[in-house]
Amino acid sequence: LTFPPGFKFGAATAAYQVEGAWNVSDKGESIWDHYSHGPRSMILNHDTGDVACDSYNNWERDIEMAAELGLHYYRFSISWPRLLPKGFDYKISEDGKAYYNKLIDGLLQKGIEPMITLYHFDLPQSLQDLGGWTNPLIADWFADYARVVFSLFGDRVKMWLTINEPIVICDMTYKAGYNPPAIYSPYFGAYLCNKYILMAHAKAWRVYDEEFKAKYHGKVSLAQHLLWIEPATDSDKDLADIAMQASAGRYSHPIFSEEGGWPPALEKAVEELSKKRGLLKSVLPPFTQEEIELVKGTHDFYGFNLYTSRLIKAKTEDTVDRWPQTDAADLGAVLLEANEWGKSSVNWLSVHPEAIRRQLNWLKKNYGDLEYVITENGMATSSGLQDEDRVNYYKKYLAQVLLAIKEDVINVTHYTAWSLMDNFEWMYGYSVRFGLYEVDYSDPQRKRTPRQSAKYYANVIKSNSFDVPS
Ligand code: BGC
Repeated sequence: LTFPPGFKFGAATAAYQVEGAWNVSDKGESIWDHYSHGPRSMILNHDTGDVACDSYNNWERDIEMAAELGLHYYRFSISWPRLLPKGFDYKISEDGKAYYNKLIDGLLQKGIEPMITLYHFDLPQSLQDLGGWTNPLIADWFADYARVVFSLFGDRVKMWLTINEPIVICDMTYKAGYNPPAIYSPYFGAYLCNKYILMAHAKAWRVYDEEFKAKYHGKVSLAQHLLWIEPATDSDKDLADIAMQASAGRYSHPIFSEEGGWPPALEKAVEELSKKRGLLKSVLPPFTQEEIELVKGTHDFYGFNLYTSRLIKAKTEDTVDRWPQTDAADLGAVLLEANEWGKSSVNWLSVHPEAIRRQLNWLKKNYGDLEYVITENGMATSSGLQDEDRVNYYKKYLAQVLLAIKEDVINVTHYTAWSLMDNFEWMYGYSVRFGLYEVDYSDPQRKRTPRQSAKYYANVIKSNSFDVPS
């Protein structure tokens, strides 16, 4: 029941969710700063990330926690506007640089590898004002930013993720009009974002590959958000296949498939949808052959976050659609949850451990025998230190990961728990808790205390097995 020798366990956070210190020194404003301070904020309780876990000041405690767990690596993200206050690369913040240097060096001193995400939702507001992810030029702005990060920290950081969850960025911002900058543009904005976010990833990957790889020997990919979708009945099988191509495939096929470009099933579905909406041509921006080549193959591993699953079913008159702003709705389908799946304390996350193994098999079937890195997995519970539900979640999902490795011979090399500590859970503010460590938000120091799950995870890492006491 043990993981292969050399298998790595980590935990993750993201800059806006933990750092706080939103306006120290010369830090620029991010879209989350801007939105959470504005009159249009729909964040629960009008919470903001102004202080969050105050990791900007508590970084030593964060490293200590990572060491207490025995993590092999700690995944965190860099705040683009903290490092480049103007968004563009002509001005680097000394303060931002110093903060990330302290964090990286502190981790390495304890033998913990840093795994860095360049972008985890906090775009500089200055670039949003110029169109953000719908402006084709963002691919170059992002590549310039990536070059700065690689040149400052590449000597010590060997695992990189360019963008966290393109699907969440494009869909929650433009399709649902929900996450900042909350621009409701489901017909156009979401599709422009699809293309330019992929171009941005690809250009950043190529910057590393061409300018840094020979010197630093690191690996670069991105963190996909995967929602495992199964047919509700036998007659929904085709729908489930298309839905997987429209979600996982939309952001993976261009990068990881042999032919590159959009998945054909997605092209067809969007073509039909565009016609139905009375548009003159498909809203999916085409890739030129040159762009297909530029994006194709821009990976050193496949990184993904997985939390939950859905059933898909053709829409009938009496079906209630809990998730109307999704690709499934565009396909004339609804998403459901199976009654037997377990519940968490957030409405979107149900517990279905087999999903992670099935998802890994789907990936291997579609993209081949790659190195697979699980960049996030975890569950929300209410507050309190006795989080038996979270322990069970980790135990069951880890058991499935091990089956995928041993029985299905899939090369999974890393598993990352989300999250090291409770943090600002985006539109849910501080009401939702994902941490191995509980954070006391009423304490000005934001005291962190290990939960039962932290003890369990430390034992997992120590014994290299999921079947351990907590
Ligand atoms: C995101 C995290 C988030 C987590 C739980 C992931 O989609 O990368 O930032 O906190 O899910 O919702």
